[in-house]
Amino acid sequence: MKNIEIIGTGMAKPGKVVTNDDLAKIVETNDEWITSRTGIKERRFCDENQSAYTLSAEAAQKAIEASGVSKEEISCVICATVSAEYVTPSLACIVQRNLGLPEDIPVLDVNAACSGFIYGLEVARGFLNGNGGKYGLVIGCEQLSRLMDMTDRSTCVLFGDGAGAAVIKTVDDGIYETVLGARGGYEITVEGAGPVVSHIKMEGQEVFKFAVDAIPKCINALKEKSGITLDDVDQVICHQANARILDHCVRKMKADPEKFYKNMDRYGNTSAASVPVALDELVKLGKVNPGDTIMMVGFGGGLTWAGVLLKYGVK
Ligand code: UT7
Repeated sequence: MKNIEIIGTGMAKPGKVVTNDDLAKIVETNDEWITSRTGIKERRFCDENQSAYTLSAEAAQKAIEASGVSKEEISCVICATVSAEYVTPSLACIVQRNLGLPEDIPVLDVNAACSGFIYGLEVARGFLNGNGGKYGLVIGCEQLSRLMDMTDRSTCVLFGDGAGAAVIKTVDDGIYETVLGARGGYEITVEGAGPVVSHIKMEGQEVFKFAVDAIPKCINALKEKSGITLDDVDQVICHQANARILDHCVRKMKADPEKFYKNMDRYGNTSAASVPVALDELVKLGKVNPGDTIMMVGFGGGLTWAGVLLKYGVK
């Protein structure tokens, strides 16, 4: 199996900014509670001209441009999402068609909730090793505002919309490790198509306990498998569910907080989009550069977890 590197990133920001004070006008909550419990100050929702499709296409287009890869060279398209408008066609298929990507390649959506982007990288790696392609496109996109119960204060303050994308390249050597798993659980649910209105429901405290265990577990497994330490890693990009979860894990691992980027203050929890959005911001800030070694960690619905250690490179 060849390894992969990320060689270009992009993101799309939904147009509607919703602050904690805006939500306090709808449900019984306040900025102090949301900020102190989660670190979230505002989140973004799609405006009337946006959808999961427009966000993912914009993020994908930017990632392709940043990578310098031509569309004809893309040999698989994977989109991680749980909130697309259509179950079929997949979001990945809609992006493929509308961006004019090749037809004779594998194209599909992955559902591993907040771990989805990292699962998607490994799925793409498998496809590229199977079909001999060199470049793949992996997107994480959510329009969670479609699924939120705006009368439930325990969830509606947490989530947001967004999309991030990355172009990957196969490499013959280099650092690459992955850890993927799932416990199977109903602690976070969204009903599928049927008579029941689809809403996100979450047992917050149970998921919190799971998350503070999953992050160090993924990081320690990646360290053991690769033989490297966090000193050798330039950035650890974790799913942006809650600042308290990240702060707790950083303390527990005695890690350098500067290596654990946080942007949930501006976007809330965007599930599968959160890791690629954070990665793109780090690239734009010059904190992730070609040659850097990065870790990415996801955890969430299904009680899935996912970690990857890889290089950020160039075409
Ligand atoms: O993306 C997938 C991964 N997801 C996560 O990692 C989320 C993990 N869980 C969490 O981040 C936290 O559990 C939450 C942020 C969801 C909740 O924080 P918490 O500290 O666990 O609060 P809680 O659920 O124990 O609620 C404490 C109190 C309750 O009131 P009582 O029973 O103590 O009177 C809630 O009713 O806070 C109340 N509450 C609120 N108050 C004001 C719940 N939501 C709100 C709210 N505003 N929005």
